[in-house]
Parts: sequence; structure tokens; C-alpha cells
Amino acid sequence: MKGPATSSCGLRRCSAPFSGPQLSRYGRLGPRVGLASAGSAGPSGGATIPDCVFSREEEDDGCYDGPEGVLQQPTPSSTSAPSATPVNPLNAAAAASAAGAGAGARAGMPRVTLVNAASVLTATAPTQSGTVPEEPTQPLEATSSGAGAERERFDWFAQWWPVAPVELMDASRPHPFTLLGQDLVLWRDGSGQWRAFRDACPHRMAPLSEGRIEKDGQLLCAYHGWRFDGKGACTEIPTARTPDQLHRATSSPRSCATAHPTLQRGGLLWVWGQGGPGAEEAAAAKQPYLPPEIQADGSGAPGVEAPGWTFRDLPYGHNYFIENVVDPAHVPVSHHKVAGNRYTDPKPFGMEFSRPLSLEGGFEFRIPDPWRADVAESFTGFQPPAHVRIQQNHTKGGSTILALFSTPTRPGWTRHIGQQLRVGGGTGIAFFAAPLPKWLFHSLGSVFLHQDMVFLHHQERIVAREAAARREEGAGAGATSPSPSSPSAPVPPPKYFMPTGVDRGVTAWRSWLSTFAGGDVQWAPGTPPLGPRETDPTVLFDTYHTHTKQCVVCSAALARMRTVRSVARAVGLLAAALAVAAVAVRAMAAVAAAAAATAAATATVPQGVLGTVVKGAAGFFATGEGVFVAMLAIVAALVVAATNKLERMMHIYEYSHRDNH
Ligand code: FES
Ligand SMILES: [Fe+2]
Repeated sequence: MKGPATSSCGLRRCSAPFSGPQLSRYGRLGPRVGLASAGSAGPSGGATIPDCVFSREEEDDGCYDGPEGVLQQPTPSSTSAPSATPVNPLNAAAAASAAGAGAGARAGMPRVTLVNAASVLTATAPTQSGTVPEEPTQPLEATSSGAGAERERFDWFAQWWPVAPVELMDASRPHPFTLLGQDLVLWRDGSGQWRAFRDACPHRMAPLSEGRIEKDGQLLCAYHGWRFDGKGACTEIPTARTPDQLHRATSSPRSCATAHPTLQRGGLLWVWGQGGPGAEEAAAAKQPYLPPEIQADGSGAPGVEAPGWTFRDLPYGHNYFIENVVDPAHVPVSHHKVAGNRYTDPKPFGMEFSRPLSLEGGFEFRIPDPWRADVAESFTGFQPPAHVRIQQNHTKGGSTILALFSTPTRPGWTRHIGQQLRVGGGTGIAFFAAPLPKWLFHSLGSVFLHQDMVFLHHQERIVAREAAARREEGAGAGATSPSPSSPSAPVPPPKYFMPTGVDRGVTAWRSWLSTFAGGDVQWAPGTPPLGPRETDPTVLFDTYHTHTKQCVVCSAALARMRTVRSVARAVGLLAAALAVAAVAVRAMAAVAAAAAATAAATATVPQGVLGTVVKGAAGFFATGEGVFVAMLAIVAALVVAATNKLERMMHIYEYSHRDNH
């Protein structure tokens, strides 16, 4: 029975069930935490961050885990440091443009300024050469011109997260997606708007992602047939006995699917991290961050080549994705033969902050002497919550920008979205600029991702195990174990040993994470923990479930490929049959001729069956028809082999550095 046409179920009305933490949990931007909670008293009245990233080894071996960190009260010199840093001209122009139009008013730009003057963590003044020395003895300093020693905390849930490129999503069916440990269903309603609901039917919590999008543009739970409109209102309960019973049931907030706010911008679907009451108002107060080179419809701004987004679910966490892409030193080594040479390209280079650390602005640093000879300078920046921008300005003019996003899905997994933008003819990484069909580009892109994945999947779990051991040791010594679920207990960063300055991006990322965001992604309550190290290559290198199946372009290409292979197999069989028939005819003719010659008592030498067949085949393949049939069979065999290989690549793409010589 269908519900009344006037029935609606806005976010405000639906109070249960409720997906994600309550908005009031931290307030809009989360609680303020005192600096004292981040560390014990340090020199100069400051507080030393108790992170191994910052502090000297207890047993000093002459090296540092990273720059020594000292949180200091504001001083005139430290608060003026940001204005002295070099700036990225492309980003600076965008920021000025946004400011002119009113911060936050322009699509794709954040409402906040890049540097939050009330809460800034910044590098000290650069050396005379303007770069960070090899031995990073310069401290990172936190300054605060705002409310004394308090700073705001990053709220993982009160954010817009990019979840997928819209053009790659199949609008005819619902899609499961996990965001910050919350299981959601993404689907497009009859009005053409993509929606995100908690993936649990209000009736008996069956996953709505197993349902169907019906012709009326509503989502049908395929278990008992309840139906929901785009706002989450239940519009049909087939087993309701009377209109009155239906009306009473659908008027209850408990009949509603829990909706998260969504929007489309820059060719991406964005989902707000919270659902339920108040989420819409909170989401409306914030805008998703898009690189200024991307327009709201997803196309490139004038003068920018934007080939389109791709995406991939990766078996390592958000923290490690960001850490990896702000680490320029790994590129020529890990991406040997794809984006550098592991033997000839690595070298020391300088790094200086072009945007100091801040809660809302993340950070950016400039490399004045990149390892690539054709790059004059480069910039790498993190923009919370999900974006990393790697910009290379080329010596011959033009720039390329790797625009990357990472959205935390569940512990040990992240959704990566990215593309390479070209401005003014920049070349960048040749592979990303190659004129390939989209499906082939998506598939071959796995090699680039897997070159890092083979490290990061395991690194994350090695670090987690080491941290667990440290916690156990601490607990044994009577210390209080940090709790990832407690917003006031920062998770300790990994105990890395980083003696050269090229790891400064890693230090900056871990600093941002520890100082503003609790040291780790915050997951929804009840999220299953990080899994063990995966050793099965069919799982680790799985490209089918992590991309192909979810990508409408690749799914269609795979279906076409299977059709082509079936045709090729049929053609090959036909060619073989033709050849056999032609050879048989010729052989039989030869046998008949031999028999006739014997009967005429001529002096012909008798030949065996094999000799007759070989002679017949040689005769056939010497003719034009024979050559044609042979070519047909060869082409068909090659097509079958190629489609087999491509299909495997779209399911599993194994990679090993040991085999990349
Ligand atoms: S669980 Fe969805 S209709 Fe019953
Ligand atoms: Fe694809």
C-alpha cells in the first residue's frame, strides 16, 4: 500500500535510527583542548609534544626522529613568520580570487582562510638559503594569537568527504559505501539527485544496498518491499492492512531511512560525515574543498586540461595515503621506471613551508630544487580533510598538478580519487598524460598504486603492532594507555627514524594529525578494528572489487571485451574448420589421383596418409584463401590472448619490486 503523497521525512524529522555521532558530540568544530593536554612543560614556558616524531631519542644516537617540536606562546616574531614564507603563485591567485568574491562564496573554495590566525602551527624562519637543512634541527612551533593556550580540534565527522566521481557511477542501482566506519548506501533518486542513507532498512535493518531503484525513482528494500523517497521518507509498506495503518506507520520518524547530506561538485559526489537531525544545517555551513583548477561541473578551468577523475579502494588507511603522497623522496625509487629511476634520480633536496600548519589550512611546502631535471620547483600541500595537491612547475613552462583525494572508509582502507591536471602544457608524469581509453587508463593505473601499496598495507600494520607493544609495555609500567576512541587522548605517531630533511612532509602530516586531529582517524562507534597483514595476492592485488565492478566505464569495457573474445573464439574455430576442410578436400583429391594412377599402371610412387595431408595443407596455405584463413586464425588467437590478459588485469594486478629491474 502506498503512503500519502504529502508524507515527507526530512532530516530534521528523522531522529531514529541515527547514523554517526551526534552533532553535539564536539560542537561544530569539536572541543577545545588545552595545549597542556598535548604535552608536558617544555623550555621557554612552552610545552613539548610527547611525540617521538618531534622528540630526541631517549638514548641519543646523534640523529632525530624528526624536527624537535616545541609549543610556544605567541611572540611577535613567531606570529609574523607565515607572511615571510614563500607562496605558491597558483594557489595564492586562487586564494586572492576567493577572498575577492567572499571566502566560501565561490564554489569549490573553503569558507575559511588558508591560515587560521587564531590557531597556527608554523615552521621557524628558514635558513639563509631558504631551505630546511639536511639535519632538521629547526623546530616546528605552534603559536596562538587567539584564546590563550586553547586550540580547536578537527572533527572527522563534520566534513564533506568525496566518495566517487559521478560519471563513473551506475545510476541504475544502489551502491554500498563505508565512510568513517559507517555503512551507507549511495543511490540516485528520480529527480537525478544522488543520496546517501544509512545502509540499514528501518524495518528490520536489512541492507538497503541490496535493494533496487524502481521506475518511480524510489529506493525499494528488496526484503519486504518498503519503499523510500530521496529524503528517506517511507512511502510504501505493502503489508499495511489499511490506509490508516499505513499513515500511522509512515508518519513515525522510525519509518525513515537516515539520510546524510550530499552534493555534487567538481564531478564528484560528496557526502557529509554525519546523518540525522541537524546534519543538513551543519553541512550547509561548510563547503567542500576543490582545487581552483576544477570547475563546479568537473571540467577544467580555462587553460586547464582535466582528463577526468578515477578512483580506487586501497587496502591501507587514510593516514598512510596522505603520508605517502606528501613524501616526494619515495617517487623515483618506489615508482622506478614509471616516474623515475631508483638508481640515478634520488638526491637531497630542500623543503620550505609555503603554507604553515593550521587546523583548517593543513600545510604546503615548496621544493626549490626537485630531483626531476625538467621541474624548476614543486609544491606539495595537504588541505583538510581529504586533499593533497602536488604541483610541478616545469623549466620549459607550464605546470602539472596531481589532484588527489583520500576518504577514510574503514580501518586499513581508504577510497582514493585523483587525476593529473595540466596547466599551460605541463608534461608531468607521462603515463598520466598518455592518450588512452579511460578503462585502459584506469586499469594500468594500478601499477602506480600497487608500487606503493605493497609497502603501505604492511607498513600500517607493522606500525600498529609496534604501537600496541608500546601500549602493553606502558600498561605494564602502570602508565595510562592512550585510547583512540577518546577525543582527548592523542594517538602516538609511529616511531620513525628520519635523519634527513626530505621527510619533512611526513613530519608535517604527523604534526597536523597529532596536534589537531587526535593522531588518527576517528571511526564511528562499533567499527571493526584494523585487520592483519594480508598475504593472499588475490586479495591484496584485487582490482575487480576495488574498482572495475564499481566503475561504469570499466564494467562496460569488460562486458565488451568478453563479447569480443567470444566472437574471436568463434572466428578462430571457423577458420580452423575451414582449413581442415580445405586440406581434407585436397588430400582426398590427391588420394583419388594416386588410386587412378595405380589403376593405369603408371610408375607413381605410393605415399602415406601423413604425406598426403601435409602435401594438401601446403597446397592450401599457398593459395590466397589459405593465407586469409591462416591470418584469421592467428588474429583470433591473439585477440583471445589479449582479452584474457586484460580481463585478468581488471580482476587482479600483481606487482613486485623484485621483478621491476
Ligand atoms: S527489512 Fe527492509 S522491508 Fe523489511
Ligand atoms: Fe574504471
